[in-house]
Amino acid sequence: MPTAPSAPTGPIEWFKAARFGLFVHFGLYSLAARHEWVRSREAMSQQDYDRYLERFDPDLFDAGKLARAAREAGMRYAVLTTKHHDGFCLFDSALTDYTSVKAAGRDLVAEFAEAMRAEGLRVGLYYSLLDWHHPDFPVDRHHPLRGTAAEREPRDLARYRDYLHAQVRELLTGYGRIDDLFFDFTYPGMGPAEWGAEELLRTVRELQPGIVVNDRLGVPGDYVTPEQYQPDEPLERDGVPVMWEACHTLNGSWGYDRDNHDYKDPGLLVRMLVQSVACGGNMLLNVGPTGRGALDPRARGTLAAIGEWMEPHARSVHGAGPSAYRAPANSLYTQAGNRLYLHLPVWPLKHIHLPGLAGKVRYAQFLHDGSEIRFRRLDGTQHEHNNLAPPGRSADTLTLTVPVGRPDVLLPVVELILDEPGEPEQPGQPEQPGEPGESDQPGEEA
Ligand code: GLC
Repeated sequence: MPTAPSAPTGPIEWFKAARFGLFVHFGLYSLAARHEWVRSREAMSQQDYDRYLERFDPDLFDAGKLARAAREAGMRYAVLTTKHHDGFCLFDSALTDYTSVKAAGRDLVAEFAEAMRAEGLRVGLYYSLLDWHHPDFPVDRHHPLRGTAAEREPRDLARYRDYLHAQVRELLTGYGRIDDLFFDFTYPGMGPAEWGAEELLRTVRELQPGIVVNDRLGVPGDYVTPEQYQPDEPLERDGVPVMWEACHTLNGSWGYDRDNHDYKDPGLLVRMLVQSVACGGNMLLNVGPTGRGALDPRARGTLAAIGEWMEPHARSVHGAGPSAYRAPANSLYTQAGNRLYLHLPVWPLKHIHLPGLAGKVRYAQFLHDGSEIRFRRLDGTQHEHNNLAPPGRSADTLTLTVPVGRPDVLLPVVELILDEPGEPEQPGQPEQPGEPGESDQPGEEA
């Protein structure tokens, strides 16, 4: 029997229950509008890249609007790029002038944290371990200055490490309670030793005891971070289940990418979210505000469409997790306590067979409109075409009868109320007349 999820206790519990968050990539690269790696991809000198610094004016960056859009999309937390690989900081740092405060008089991290809290969202900060602006960050293969004389300049990694630790301290002491920290990223040559990861992680937990931290310092954190791919089963490390969060873009780019129209449609995104929950993970969905800091219409529309689905369906996501029951083909289960949620990306013809559930379901309804779904125990002996029943169909199969027309929602969901574990099974309901010409008897048989 599946066990009911326990009440939230430790820091990871809010994160697990939240299931859905907003990722926000904003920075100087948003003005270039051709991917957040633009400086590296085009091997731009600092001087070339400074043209974006000179133009930086986030006059349309409205953290309140962003927070509302996230909440209305059904998101429970949000993560902002406080500094990306280009080194530009969206916060007031005493350690550099390369900040939004110096460039435009705006501490966007402060605005963001305050606005998210005001909408009841948890606050997450992304911090890039790479820094192509810092004079002591190694000129390696990702660095925009690779292949230039800069490769031969002396660079003192220990000095960069101090900077990195001190900036993380600024972020975790200057902005109230921070719920989530997303470091990015470790690669061959730059890893835990270079970042001083163990010490940094200790400091993080000391400064913000309730925080959850990802795994990209190269040492285990509280959750792992599949990026732009969708796990389709629970993730484990050495046979032990791990908490995970899949991060996804709308169109393949994290930063605003004007000419990229490779968008995932909202229906796909909702399926990815539900698949994450069904496999014990979260989904962090990214938006890249424009050069002026606003969400473009496509991002706004996508969030609104997801929100329209989330409004009636949130309880199959928030506080839900994997089910011990095995979902039939082309469907996904999530479960919260004694409520089992059957998600139907492919609409069936009239009947859905649920193995193992006969005698266990007290009531069934569509989640979008609360309309009853009738059901019965599959009993081959009552079928005229008994010999056509698939041989593997077990007697404990429950059969739902659904309308021929697919409900007009991004992803139809049937909510099954299970008998509480340990409770006696419900007595059989009286048989009700089936549709003419149908041998099915809606209403469960004992
Ligand atoms: C990758 C990319 C980076 C992006 C991040 C999001 O590490 O380098 O641009 O911010 O993924 O997870």
